[in-house]
Amino acid sequence: RKVSLTGIKPTGEPHLGNYIGAILPALRLADSYESLYFIADYHALTTIRDRDLLRHYTRSVAATWLAAGLDPDRTTFYRQSDLPEVFELSWILSCMASKGLMNRAHAYKAARDRNREAGKEDLDAGVNMGLFNYPVLMAVDILIMDADVVPVGRDQVQHVEYAADIAGSFNAVYGDRFKFKIPTAVIPDEGSAHTLPGTDGRKMSKSYGNTIPLFAPEASLRKLIRRIPTDSVPVEEPKDPDSAAVFTLLERFGAPDLVVDTRARLSAGGMGWGEVKAQLTDALITQFAPLQERYEALMAQGSELDDLLAHGADKARKQTRPLLERVRDAIGIG
Ligand code: TYM
Repeated sequence: RKVSLTGIKPTGEPHLGNYIGAILPALRLADSYESLYFIADYHALTTIRDRDLLRHYTRSVAATWLAAGLDPDRTTFYRQSDLPEVFELSWILSCMASKGLMNRAHAYKAARDRNREAGKEDLDAGVNMGLFNYPVLMAVDILIMDADVVPVGRDQVQHVEYAADIAGSFNAVYGDRFKFKIPTAVIPDEGSAHTLPGTDGRKMSKSYGNTIPLFAPEASLRKLIRRIPTDSVPVEEPKDPDSAAVFTLLERFGAPDLVVDTRARLSAGGMGWGEVKAQLTDALITQFAPLQERYEALMAQGSELDDLLAHGADKARKQTRPLLERVRDAIGIG
């Protein structure tokens, strides 16, 4: 049994970075691995405080996976919150995880850096325990399913390494009775796809507010892409294609011939960024229009999406229940 597992947190509308970093690679892996893909709704609770919005984003992430081609008969597809074993194991593994490791986690460190830059005295201001424990819960997501590979974008690699580390700590103590499998992250190896840039050139991220949603209506997509900042080199002069986020995005989503041609035209001079933006918008519409139609049909459904996720959770618990029993037995609980 070789297992691929990944999750997306419903904290916003799914965007191009999620698609390139996780959804597409995960769907490819589903051809050769047993696959378990889920919606990390309890992870979203570290930031989302609006119940309707949390529900909406949860449905939206679910519909995105399905629209992108996830086959629920082949992939176990579920909501994290439907698996009580995840939370029980979360306590157990937080007792094995060192606090120092959590102190060094990127998201927590970034929150402290922001407070430092803002001149706040309390560097932990605004940090809840959920954010601090985030990597433990994520380790549980992975370890409870015996995952071998975890397809993620580069920003999540540290978390997968933490899962491996925590598994190692557990195994070192209880390994004669129970051993967790050690997972590895797989990241897309196509240069720019490592970390897809957002509209401001930084990593596309919900927390930076620079995302291009997968399913924006055409008019707002055009507007959004037109607003991407570019340098002010005049149209007739040569430009460096690699200096601009629009070109990096076009490289990923445009037809190969078009990309080669645009690179040459930009480098030679005579092509403006406005035209590249129009090319990018057209490329995105061509690629995602069929998905968008499926997405909208799924979002319009009543309880079908919930029923499907409930069914996925039943399947998932066939794995999590016996595993948790073995862990409890190994540690002397119950
Ligand atoms: P999340 O919801 O922030 O992102 C979902 C996936 O999208 C990838 N990604 C990107 N990849 C390339 N370029 C980008 N600009 C970009 N932005 C996002 C992320 O790397 C991720 O793979 N902690 C996770 C959710 C999670 C999880 C798990 C993942 C919870 N438990 C267990 C794997 C296994 C997260 O916040 O992803």
